[in-house]
Amino acid sequence: MQKLRIGVLMGGKSLEKEVSFNSGRTVCDHIDTTQYDAIPLFHTNLKIYLLPWHFLHRGKTTDFEHRLAREAQQIAWDDLRQHIDFMYIAEHGCYAEDGTLQGFLEVLRIPYFGSGVLASALRADKNIHKIILKNAGIAVPRYITIEPHEIDHYEKYQTTIFHKLNTIVPTETYIVKPYNEGSSLGISVADKHNLEMALKRACFIDPDKKKRVIVEEKINGMEFTCIVLTNNVTGEFFALPPTESVTDPAIGFFDYEQKYMPGRGIKRTPARCSAEITIRIQQTCIAVMHVLGFTIMSRIDGFVTPEGNIVIIDPNTFSGMAPSSYIFNQAAEIDMSPSQIISHLLTTALQQYNLIPKE
Ligand SMILES: Nc1ncnc2c1ncn2[C@@H]1O[C@H](COP(=O)(O)OP(=O)(O)O)[C@@H](O)[C@H]1O
Ligand SMILES: [Mg+2]
Repeated sequence: MQKLRIGVLMGGKSLEKEVSFNSGRTVCDHIDTTQYDAIPLFHTNLKIYLLPWHFLHRGKTTDFEHRLAREAQQIAWDDLRQHIDFMYIAEHGCYAEDGTLQGFLEVLRIPYFGSGVLASALRADKNIHKIILKNAGIAVPRYITIEPHEIDHYEKYQTTIFHKLNTIVPTETYIVKPYNEGSSLGISVADKHNLEMALKRACFIDPDKKKRVIVEEKINGMEFTCIVLTNNVTGEFFALPPTESVTDPAIGFFDYEQKYMPGRGIKRTPARCSAEITIRIQQTCIAVMHVLGFTIMSRIDGFVTPEGNIVIIDPNTFSGMAPSSYIFNQAAEIDMSPSQIISHLLTTALQQYNLIPKE
């Protein structure tokens, strides 16, 4: 029987292209080739290429992007189905995890990895998912949203903004973020004195598109990230042992460098908390998946406050898949290797589409 062809899509239109390349490479390296054929695909601008394996092990996309036109086979999106049976999405951020790519693959009738269009869109909108989570009784930070025109004319709107903040977010310190980016891009810690700068940073993080900005209360306590997976036999969600992220106090939040540069941020798996707190983190993260309609997997970020409350700050439908990513550290705690975890994810997703039989 011909093996299923798993397209591994990396690159993309978002600011997280390099993160995606690291994820895609790891997935390609660990796919069980006795069962599947891995087809590395690189997406750049509007084009998609079959990525030659000798480019896959380059350090950065800039090492080979200029060579793609000459050395790689470009394929039309319409023809993708002739090359792959299933798409593993290893792109991150805007246009990849926000429902747009999912919708595009639905139109192309290509089964794909991860949550569907609506759940992906909800996860990407840091305003809308907070409203839904709060309604379901899951704690989220207090926050306000600020529109690009208010930021463009900050002097005119400053009084209204401060009034809203004093009423809804009565804290001294805020976290300011674009409503739909990832990897900590555009995020700052701010107070009223440097709010304008933080708003502009978040709003203009993507030079092509001004963004709505969220100003949240800065939550104190232990930051955690928890991966939730699906049991292939029962279909139930189960959570891995959460990781604790220890932020550099000089920066005040887990920024891009601490997330991705080796040795910068301290991540401890399992998190240093009681068994009771661990269970509450895991149960809350599973509840988040149900409420937002996520499927297959998730990576949920949140805090345990000094009072012991679990506050969700960032529900994600995907995890980064670079070797140092949370998912591999957490899976190691339950004795699963990177290859086993990637097989597990693929099995779950392929079963969902009936591309392979249920166990
Ligand atoms: N309300 C908050 N309180 C305290 N820290 C926060 C808050 N929101 C975000 N952060 C910090 O900023 C980081 C990135 O924020 P997050 O909302 O997870 O964005 P991203 O989607 O870019 O990962 C978090 O990992 C955390 O360290
Ligand atoms: Mg996050």
